[in-house]
Amino acid sequence: MKQLTALYLLALCLEFSHSLKLPDYITPCHRYDPNINACALKSARETIPHVINGDPKYKVPPLDPVLIKELVVSQGSSSVGLTLAARDAYLRGVKDVEIRDLDFNFKDQTVYFEWYFPKLQIDCIYNVTGRVLLLPIEGYGNGTISLNKVRSNYTYDWEIIKKKDGKEYVTVTKAHLTFDPEKFQIHLENLFNGNKLLGDNMNRFMNENWRDILKDVGPAVAEAVGEYIRLVLNSIYKSVPYEDVFIFDPV
Ligand SMILES: *[C@@H]1O[C@H](CO)[C@@H](O)[C@H](O)[C@H]1NC(C)=O
Ligand SMILES: *[C@@H]1O[C@H](CO)[C@@H](O)[C@H](O)[C@H]1NC(C)=O
Ligand SMILES: *[C@@H]1O[C@H](CO)[C@@H](O)[C@H](O)[C@H]1NC(C)=O
Repeated sequence: MKQLTALYLLALCLEFSHSLKLPDYITPCHRYDPNINACALKSARETIPHVINGDPKYKVPPLDPVLIKELVVSQGSSSVGLTLAARDAYLRGVKDVEIRDLDFNFKDQTVYFEWYFPKLQIDCIYNVTGRVLLLPIEGYGNGTISLNKVRSNYTYDWEIIKKKDGKEYVTVTKAHLTFDPEKFQIHLENLFNGNKLLGDNMNRFMNENWRDILKDVGPAVAEAVGEYIRLVLNSIYKSVPYEDVFIFDPV
């Protein structure tokens, strides 16, 4: 019982000690600055090099490469659908991101980002069963995907919640990601249980038809990645109270 109480107190302390100031490499913007978007855009661009290798204090994981432990996309029924799992996916190329636009909307409580990545590469262990563009596919092994000149939009909705420490925090409730590469290449090793002829044919087919495949599978993948980013954002927002995210003094 005593031990439990001690643990409980420790947990409370941890909860309270959670609250941090904005990292000193982020320039805060004035909440009521009429040009807040320009300020936030500049601040976001300056922040990237500081957080690209992660910041454990703020629970920011390394961002290049980003390690996604598991991402599962499942769509349609088992006979016409596709189940795709990627494990230990390393996403490289985030460090070269250009933030092209950013829009804070305080009235609707949304944020809109426009990103551009010159080159992204994903290495993972994939597991796929089902159909792509009506062709049966199955396999398990190493997979590589390269994307060039990727335009991407990310929007999220946020709310303010009050935590046990009495302070208000931002929480991201819903997110939406879209992406549109100019070039796409995929290579899945060991398709069809290692049947080289079938595997080569399927890889060629996917590379020739990647636009249609992305139209089909892309939104589900984007949704999964968008959700991943949402969780990362929330772990950051959880550590800095809302009153410290912006400067609230009159301009
Ligand atoms: C691949 O995924 C299927 C389900 O979609 C599962 O039954 C199978 O065990 C997985 N294979 C490996 C090697 O993980
Ligand atoms: C992926 O490739 C590595 C190194 O080439 C190899 O050791 C590993 O067994 C492969 N994984 C699978 C699931 O085939
Ligand atoms: C991003 O949004 C802009 C403006 O709303 C639009 O023109 C563009 O097509 C979108 N890009 C993607 C990849 O969704």
